[in-house]
Amino acid sequence: MFYVLLFSSHFFVCETPFSFFIYSSTFNPIISSPPFSGVLCYYVFYVVTNRMIIVVTPTYKRMTRIADMLRMANTLSHVKDLHWIVIEDGNKTIPAVQDILDRTGLPYTYQAHKTALGYPRRGWYQRTMALKLIRSNTSQILGQDHQEGVVYFGDDDNSYDIRLFTDYIRNVKTLGIWAVGLVGGTVVEAPKVVDGKVTAFNVKWNPKRRFAVDMAGFAVNLKVVLNSDAVFGTSCKRGGGAPETCLLEDMGLEREDIEPFGYEKTKDREIFVWHTKTSTPNIVQSKKNQTKPVPPPDTFGYFVEV
Ligand code: UGA
Ligand code: MN
Repeated sequence: MFYVLLFSSHFFVCETPFSFFIYSSTFNPIISSPPFSGVLCYYVFYVVTNRMIIVVTPTYKRMTRIADMLRMANTLSHVKDLHWIVIEDGNKTIPAVQDILDRTGLPYTYQAHKTALGYPRRGWYQRTMALKLIRSNTSQILGQDHQEGVVYFGDDDNSYDIRLFTDYIRNVKTLGIWAVGLVGGTVVEAPKVVDGKVTAFNVKWNPKRRFAVDMAGFAVNLKVVLNSDAVFGTSCKRGGGAPETCLLEDMGLEREDIEPFGYEKTKDREIFVWHTKTSTPNIVQSKKNQTKPVPPPDTFGYFVEV
């Protein structure tokens, strides 16, 4: 007969000649009787892996940004154990963005780093600053309850299924890759998986890349980030201009390292992230006096980034 004493992250399994039953609903140790003679105990230690998800989002002033960030905040606030790093492409942080972050109730870091000279204005420099922050402030970002983490680059205008975080990202041990909808000039880009391994990429644009994946389609374990000093450069020739393959190659990753997610079914496979793009609305300007410069539209005291 076996019985078990639980001490949350380690426990004893004991073998006795008698029938004996111990249970604990709170995971507290229960010591109910003096030790028996002839009892054989094994000490079992296990580590509870509850990885912190670290989401990195570059963002910048544009008319639709508050709406985009609001949608993303509403999604992320459903996910536990998530630290949101938001980097403003500008000289200062914006109170309306900070308010959205505050209301999520999530731990977050919001900093301003205007794109440096030589970098494309596409969030590359902001992600680089976030990687440096993750490396220099690891324990603060992980918080007290987490030993492990996973880093995901989530842009502010994509559409995210909560299961992307809970079912895919949280489980990434090295490099996780999955399908992305409405991207790369096609309806879906996805890894091609044979016997559980990624052999190629089902993409239209630049399929020969070692990692032919959009930013939204992968996450890396924090260990990989901390074991390298790779950042986003000012260009990526191997990616044909797209930065993803350069970053992952510079982190020392190979195709064999890829853990594919969401390919198991043969049909009705689900897409958990969509590369949606919010178009700028066509604002009708008054044409009363065309000789003067057009003033910004009246927002009646409401905050809109015009
Ligand atoms: C695509 C990819 O999905 C991006 O991950 C990649 O960075 C980008 O291409 C690229 O060209 O490198 P796309 O939808 O075309 O993204 O670009 P945006 O969503 O407009 O920008 C990507 C991120 O960078 C967004 O979070 C955006 O807010 C931010 N960004 C964009 C800035 O911080 N500053 C800018 O001037 C422009
Ligand atoms: Mn985008």
